[in-house]
Amino acid sequence: MKHQFPEGFWWGSAASATQFEGAASEGGKGPNIWDHWFSQQPNRFFNGVGPEVTSDFYHRMETDIELMQATGHNSFRTSISWSRLFPDGGNEVNPEAVDFYHKMLDKLDAAGIEPFINLYHFDMPMALQEQGGWESREVVKQFSRYARFCFEEFGSKVNHWFTFNEPVVPVEMGYLYDAHYPNVVDFKRAVQVGFHTMLAHAGAVSEFRASEAQGKIGIILNLTPSYPRSQHPADLRAAEVADLLFNRSFLDPAVKGEYPQALVELLREHELLPECQGDDLSLIACQRIDLLGVNYYFPRRVKARESLPNPEAPMLPEFFFDHYEMPGRKINPHRGWEIYEKGIYDCLVNIRDNYGNIDTYISENGMGVENEERFIRDGEVDDQYRIDFIKDHLRWVHRAIDEGCHCRGYHLWTFIDNWSWCNAYKNRYGLVRLDLKTQQRTIKQSGHWFRELALNNGFDG
Ligand code: BG6
Repeated sequence: MKHQFPEGFWWGSAASATQFEGAASEGGKGPNIWDHWFSQQPNRFFNGVGPEVTSDFYHRMETDIELMQATGHNSFRTSISWSRLFPDGGNEVNPEAVDFYHKMLDKLDAAGIEPFINLYHFDMPMALQEQGGWESREVVKQFSRYARFCFEEFGSKVNHWFTFNEPVVPVEMGYLYDAHYPNVVDFKRAVQVGFHTMLAHAGAVSEFRASEAQGKIGIILNLTPSYPRSQHPADLRAAEVADLLFNRSFLDPAVKGEYPQALVELLREHELLPECQGDDLSLIACQRIDLLGVNYYFPRRVKARESLPNPEAPMLPEFFFDHYEMPGRKINPHRGWEIYEKGIYDCLVNIRDNYGNIDTYISENGMGVENEERFIRDGEVDDQYRIDFIKDHLRWVHRAIDEGCHCRGYHLWTFIDNWSWCNAYKNRYGLVRLDLKTQQRTIKQSGHWFRELALNNGFDG
């Protein structure tokens, strides 16, 4: 069967500054939390590989953009590094960074690749983390200033802006599960961080509306549909709470301008409500997005708790539910994530039915595989598994579009193998293989296939 996509569909990939630019202490860049954490605890990173060099895009930007062309990109998302642009977090702009991002945007334009630019991808400047990071309202204000600068400086070259990528991840990983800096485990502080992030988002959208920048602005959310083990009311409630905490905590305020009442009640009941000032909620109410990026990797399956929470342990979201492993589930063993293709359709249909069918696109989807060199044949990675993974998801995206969902594109995670935070280069996600020792780039089979996919605006099968 032919899967043809609507005209003008966005085909491309996503990356982020910290994960692929490298030059972490070059070009006038200041340290961010990743540079700092690695200097303190290199053992927390796979094989002790840190963020200094990564995929060296900073030095290879021109030829890398040619590789994007060669792999069929008509669009590409990356982030601006806040600590490259403002090394001290906010006062002095770094002219080398301004120059670099202008050159990148010009090169993308010359290559016929539409830039999608995101402002924050997990990478708080260290100078601002020292002021409290997202726990501080001063940092929220600094984010607005940073955003305004970007809109004014680069606005004439960018039509698609995003404030945050997966804002719930720094909340979970940095303030609940000890997996990102600052390694705090405290539910109440996590909720405050989440609220301030949303406030920073709304502040940036408001700066965008006040600026002369054209185009659209949105947010990128990792939507993990919450499936209950059964239709038993206790399992249903477990899924509802997981959905409120991990999806609706950002989705509702970003798209509808308000928090779900059920989330407010849950937080109030457990004395977790964040501090909120005078106009905060009206700012959020007024600054709704134009475009939603949906990152989809895996579903979240939950069941009612099977034991009482340990009263000695710090309270975590798992106070409300247990994780559930569905028998017979398909899994990517390298990342430990379930593969459930229909989840991408469920996300899009949910947006159609419950969020006004706002414009969306798949802003990330992908498969990380360890030891990919074992699949090298005739010098190229033969990653048929990745091609199958993409097709299996695209069939569901196609069906969602057929059924009226406004999904405008598909971006793979990622363009070239890049640095996956604490997993560093363990799992490879790229359309292009990176040889870490030589920095040599080689297009994988999936890269050639992706080019055909984009040229044909669809695929057979
Ligand atoms: C998304 C992030 O969560 O998933 C990326 O936006 C990340 O930054 C990607 O790299 C894949 O996850 P991981 O942890 O395997 O790198």
